[in-house]
Amino acid sequence: MPQTVKGVIARSKGADVELVDVVVPDPGPGEAVVQVQSCGVCHTDLHYREGGINDEFPFLLGHEAAGVVESVGAGVTDVAPGDFVILNWRAVCGQCRACAKGKPWYCFNTHNAKQKMTLTDGTELSPALGIGAFIEKTLVAAGQCTKVDADADAAAVGLLGCGVMAGFGAAVNTGGVGRGDSIAVIGCGGVGNAAIAGATVAGATTIIAVDVDDRKLAGARSFGATHTINGKDEDVVERIRELTGGFGADVVVEAVGRPETYEQAFYARDLAGTVVLVGVPTPDQQVTLPMIEIFGRGGALKSSWYGDCLPSRDFPMLVDLYRQGRFDLDAFVSERIGLGDVEAAFDKMERGEVLRSVVVL
Ligand SMILES: NC(=O)c1ccc[n+]([C@@H]2O[C@H](COP(=O)([O-])OP(=O)(O)OC[C@H]3O[C@@H](n4cnc5c(N)ncnc54)[C@H](O)[C@@H]3O)[C@@H](O)[C@H]2O)c1
Ligand SMILES: [Zn+2]
Ligand SMILES: [Zn+2]
Repeated sequence: MPQTVKGVIARSKGADVELVDVVVPDPGPGEAVVQVQSCGVCHTDLHYREGGINDEFPFLLGHEAAGVVESVGAGVTDVAPGDFVILNWRAVCGQCRACAKGKPWYCFNTHNAKQKMTLTDGTELSPALGIGAFIEKTLVAAGQCTKVDADADAAAVGLLGCGVMAGFGAAVNTGGVGRGDSIAVIGCGGVGNAAIAGATVAGATTIIAVDVDDRKLAGARSFGATHTINGKDEDVVERIRELTGGFGADVVVEAVGRPETYEQAFYARDLAGTVVLVGVPTPDQQVTLPMIEIFGRGGALKSSWYGDCLPSRDFPMLVDLYRQGRFDLDAFVSERIGLGDVEAAFDKMERGEVLRSVVVL
């Protein structure tokens, strides 16, 4: 029997989100219904609400979640009812050209549930990043459920489902930061601070945090930043060069998603360094760079979707680091809120008051 539960939707561009009844079908072949226990508020949810991702309104928001599998459809063997899982938006297909080349973290044909969750009048919802987890129960592809140890706090480990994984992986997987490297991270929200924490775990020795908000910079220090720069008061590129012997950083992670911060990242890296764009731009944004600089500086300009992660490999590893006290996921949880508080959480995010507001159910 389909179930009717409460969920948070964005009905139209820019309008406040609404808590409404959502119909969740029984899981079909290859699908699972998950009882959501926690879901973090990521900036990408706000991008959806603002129409910055696509126009497929209404969206069922939320995508940074953990919960317990309630039921599975035919043919599902990897997870079973009762399993504690983190939801992922990279259920790899195993067959596309990326998977065939042995690079499943680039999978071009990831799985989502085939059936749609709907409003009570039958209107189909577009789940954010193929998940939709500001809801009591959600329907996903079984491959979107990554089983992890059940005794971890859902509010903390659920953040691995998007922003924290994206930031950690942007530094470690995409940027390849390692022992003795220098890294600068521009934008110290949940994603940027996870990049800083990742660089710390990986052994980077110069870790420069850049933001325009001093509260965020204070937080970045606690995640392992060795230096901070407030971009409102200082010349970001000059300061990063000063802090790196006059050269620039080996890796610069852009975790804002704006042309001006991307340009800072481009000019603040060392020769043969790597720029990683993990912030999500809007379709209208443009950058203009002198081609001779792109050529002359060598190195790599990369983008990082989801930190180039492989959920089955990376989520359990990060849960282990968390439980060993080497990766402080709790510090990302700024507040625990209810399903009715998502709009207020967007305001707090925009005012810079939180790293992550986490809906707990
Ligand atoms: N690539 C991915 O897979 C992925 C995954 C999750 C989120 N994201 C994106 O990453 C970005 C960051 O997400 P978040 O949840 O951390 O957002 P957030 O709003 O919590 O953090 C953004 C930070 O950038 C800072 N900032 C704004 N303008 C700045 C400037 N000019 N210079 C320096 N800092 C500036 C803000 O003060 C804030 O601390 C967003 O664009 C989001 O959509 C990408
Ligand atoms: Zn694939
Ligand atoms: Zn996200």
